[in-house]
Amino acid sequence: ASTLGASAAQSGRYFGTAVAAGRLGDGTYVGILNREFSMVTAENEMKMDATEPNPNQFTFGNGDRILNQARSQGKRVRGHTLAWHGQQPGWMQRMEGPSLRSALVNHITKVAGHYRGQLYAWDVVNEAFADGGSGGRRDSNLQRTGNDWIEVAFRTARAADPGAKLCYNDYNIDSWSAAKTQGVYRMVKDFKARGVPIDCVGLQSHFGTGIPGDYQTTIQRFGELGVDVQITELDIAGSGTQQAENYRRVTQACLSVARCGGITVWGIRDTDSWRARETPLLFDGAGNKKAAYNSVLNALNGG
Ligand code: G3I
Repeated sequence: ASTLGASAAQSGRYFGTAVAAGRLGDGTYVGILNREFSMVTAENEMKMDATEPNPNQFTFGNGDRILNQARSQGKRVRGHTLAWHGQQPGWMQRMEGPSLRSALVNHITKVAGHYRGQLYAWDVVNEAFADGGSGGRRDSNLQRTGNDWIEVAFRTARAADPGAKLCYNDYNIDSWSAAKTQGVYRMVKDFKARGVPIDCVGLQSHFGTGIPGDYQTTIQRFGELGVDVQITELDIAGSGTQQAENYRRVTQACLSVARCGGITVWGIRDTDSWRARETPLLFDGAGNKKAAYNSVLNALNGG
């Protein structure tokens, strides 16, 4: 097949991108989006600060814009994200304890309820584990409401939208040997054992110029817990053949594991990226296909 989405579909997978509402008026951007991708994630527009700027006052305009554009083109949508220490509205940043816990449950209920039945998956909780060697939780106002906040978030999301796959999403959990990966693995294993509703793990996969040698092992091991694995925010620094080879390795790792359901890149053109100076995406600033694009397409087609 000749596009990323159609090529991924040959093995029952999707190929997605992050989309920014502010770029939906850019013809080159929308042309590539409509042609190449079968899944969409809102880059910022469904986050807590965007959807609940004031307590219990919800704004869905930009999130709905992205959802409707995607669905009108036959694409599915991943929700990102219901609970995170980052991009909280100011009023929530200043909250703690039981009142914050109630606000979190209300937020999840209202936002997941608004999109009920329309999303493929939700990143229910984003980036809750600490970097470094502890393998433990990251400190945050949400964590300080009690260690059970993550499972409460998942149960609340399931009740609000029973049709969406519920994911835990994080970065630096790509290498199987990392303590952070092991911490997330233990949590998912525990959730599955106790019946906490979790369906998928998102590996953000923001990479420098190298891919961990045990990346496929990580995907495999999470899959063996009985959850889907999704590559949710892929971008890889570099250019030319080295970048193309790294993109091939990531694509091949997903294709090699049955439970790896799809890949999402975190933007369309290098100039759309949060790390634009590292030129980490599949299209250049003019919208031309890079070597990395051809490498991914070829891998998806079995080459
Ligand atoms: O919307 C305001 C705009 O009104 C203002 O004029 C402008 C001036 O700075 O800022 C705009 O907000 C920016 C927003 O992106 C929208 O462009 C924020 O400053 C900026 O911090 C924000 O960055 C986003 C970042 O998350 C924030 O945490 C990036 O676009 C987005 O790509 C990035 O995505 C995250 C994932 O959600 C989670 N994983 C890591 C990933 C990369 O950081």
